[in-house]
Amino acid sequence: MPKADYVFPNGFLWGTATSSHQVEGNNTNNDWWAWEQQEGRILHGHRSGLACDWWDGRWREDFDRAAETGQNAHRFSIEWSRVQPAPDRWDEDAIDHYRDMLRGLRDRALLPLVTFHHFSLPLWLAERGGWENEETPALFARYVRKCMEAFREYTNFWITINEPNVYAYEGYIAGLFPPGKKDLTAAMRVMANLVRGHALAYREIHAVQREARVGLALAIRPLLPAGPLKFLDGIPAKIAGQFFNEAFPGALKDGKLRLITRTVPIPEAQGTQDFVGVNYYTVDMVRFDLLRPQEMFGHRFYPADAPLSDTGFIAHFPEGMFLTLKWAKSFNLPIIVTENGVEDADDHLRPRYLAEHIHQVWRAANFNWQIKGYFHWTLVDNFEWERGWTQRFGLWGLDVDTQRRIRRPSVDLYASICQKNALTY
Ligand code: NOJ
Repeated sequence: MPKADYVFPNGFLWGTATSSHQVEGNNTNNDWWAWEQQEGRILHGHRSGLACDWWDGRWREDFDRAAETGQNAHRFSIEWSRVQPAPDRWDEDAIDHYRDMLRGLRDRALLPLVTFHHFSLPLWLAERGGWENEETPALFARYVRKCMEAFREYTNFWITINEPNVYAYEGYIAGLFPPGKKDLTAAMRVMANLVRGHALAYREIHAVQREARVGLALAIRPLLPAGPLKFLDGIPAKIAGQFFNEAFPGALKDGKLRLITRTVPIPEAQGTQDFVGVNYYTVDMVRFDLLRPQEMFGHRFYPADAPLSDTGFIAHFPEGMFLTLKWAKSFNLPIIVTENGVEDADDHLRPRYLAEHIHQVWRAANFNWQIKGYFHWTLVDNFEWERGWTQRFGLWGLDVDTQRRIRRPSVDLYASICQKNALTY
């Protein structure tokens, strides 16, 4: 049987993505650690604990795994609570630790893509109201400046904030992330401050490193009318899409944060994006239903028999990746897939998921859209926030009790793609 090769542009970045709180272990000084100690917050009472034990050094063996399987880049995050454990204290040992990791990546020919804020906040800042506090954008920019001065020589790819839309939604509307509020006004204040924090940090990064490339990692979930009443179903799809997908990138484009009821001018944010980072996992299909309006966004109307991920999301909807990239292209900036993956402990969906989503990335690149790289979520199973250890996104599985890594079959598929810079099937 002849096989077809879908070849990617030279220099394409192939990697995996991780985040500090999910892999480091013992992040005892941040808001997530405190949240995990409260009863009922995390599924089955799970805790991050040692996580993947990266802080004690296991990042080395996991970076070896990434390098040995042909990856040439890695996305990870700096833990603010480690670098700045108290408002007036920088921890130089922690900064050295991240220098070691950055050197460790470079030694293995893995290009670092560094995120400064991936959901967790130092406890001292959370106690002052976190992103609800007007002072937080400036504090964030100060922390980013400190990091830039320490880490500038290792890379020029930076992500200020991971999934600000998910952060605001889960923490201030759904109440599933700390601080667990259900308060739309607070959510909107947080959104505005996240945009301000990003804009200030963008300038600090460029002040330290002129050639820096800075973006957000946006969670993009296309909202599709479930049909057959496409026109009517399109109404909730549009409202939710405006709020969830469009608000942040829109603000970075023209300095206007469009919220449901009003537009907040944030002129300093205009043009503060050098690439569009997208985290794409799946789509939502939305149905207009006046009798059950509260269900319009909360329920997913998937076709019967659609294979579902471990948490019940439609797994095989690769067209959503293409739609996401098409949307990202409208910003006329380079695009990076900063996350894509599926929770699938048995690895029965992941091989197909990988192939079909990477194929869509290839289609986009083949149109000469400026797609620069793909980062799979994730390298090794890690602590999945309010779902604890129940969701397994890793190419490698993890036995949390023994720290043993278990190589899933998908590793070989992803390795062959990375090594050949091509998808073959
Ligand atoms: C998005 C988040 O950035 C990451 O922290 C999370 O683990 C994955 N998606 C999977 O849900």
